[in-house]
Amino acid sequence: MHPMLNIAVRAARNAGKVILQKFEEKDKVEVLQKGSNDFVTNVDKDAEAMIRDTILKSYPKHSIVGEELGQQLGSDADYLWVIDPLDGTTNFIKGIPHFAVSIALKVKGRTEQAVVYDPIRGELFTATRGQGAQLNSKRIRVNKATDLSGTVLATGFPFKQKHHMEEYMNAFSALFVHTADMRRAGSAALDLAYVAAGRVDGFFEIGLKPWDTAAGQLLVKEAGGLVTDFAGGNNQDKSGNIVCGAPKLAQAIVKELRPHLSDALLK
Ligand code: IPD
Ligand code: CA
Ligand code: CA
Ligand code: CA
Repeated sequence: MHPMLNIAVRAARNAGKVILQKFEEKDKVEVLQKGSNDFVTNVDKDAEAMIRDTILKSYPKHSIVGEELGQQLGSDADYLWVIDPLDGTTNFIKGIPHFAVSIALKVKGRTEQAVVYDPIRGELFTATRGQGAQLNSKRIRVNKATDLSGTVLATGFPFKQKHHMEEYMNAFSALFVHTADMRRAGSAALDLAYVAAGRVDGFFEIGLKPWDTAAGQLLVKEAGGLVTDFAGGNNQDKSGNIVCGAPKLAQAIVKELRPHLSDALLK
């Protein structure tokens, strides 16, 4: 394993311990409102602090950006760690055992290492660019679906951007009729990891942040999948609007969604 992936794994496991301990002592969790329908807890912050400590102990000059503690530029800006300490905070708060730690390392803007860790199930999804994706050290691949029939797709609802709800729902319906079923499990990082592992065939969501998808995108690509924006382009990092799956399936998803979405989402 690449030494930097090894550190990412260590950081994710350390954060996983912090999260699991507090998941079992729910009364000690403090919930704060960040925005409309958007919450954060002391556990998200403690987990991120733990990840930062673990990374900086080995790589004190590297830069870090995380959802809860912001950006910290080190003397070496070529190495940027992108962290979501707890992806699936709403599940965590409600006691639903489905959330993950997501850590990616970008080198000169390109994602080289990725970890998504589900502490409840002890499932560790990892990838190094050019070397495939693994679940608990076993090689994983996307399902080779070429069209929508029989597929199960994951998605996320635009709960923080309800002004997009109507067009999202129209696009959802147009797509849904061609699939076997859809899932809204509540963790974008795990949605992407599940696409990589072939547990769901594809995934789409609007308005995600870099820390939600940085690691998951590399997992999907290294598992043989295609990641695009809603117009079939490559702007998903900037727009946060993302579609993925086996290459032909991702294109089929784009084809169904696209006619129902406004220009603002087609990037
Ligand atoms: C959220 C989850 C969710 C997605 C949201 C994200 P958080 O991340 O990934 O599935 O629908 O858009 O914000 O806030 O729990 O880290
Ligand atoms: Ca959040
Ligand atoms: Ca997230
Ligand atoms: Ca989070």
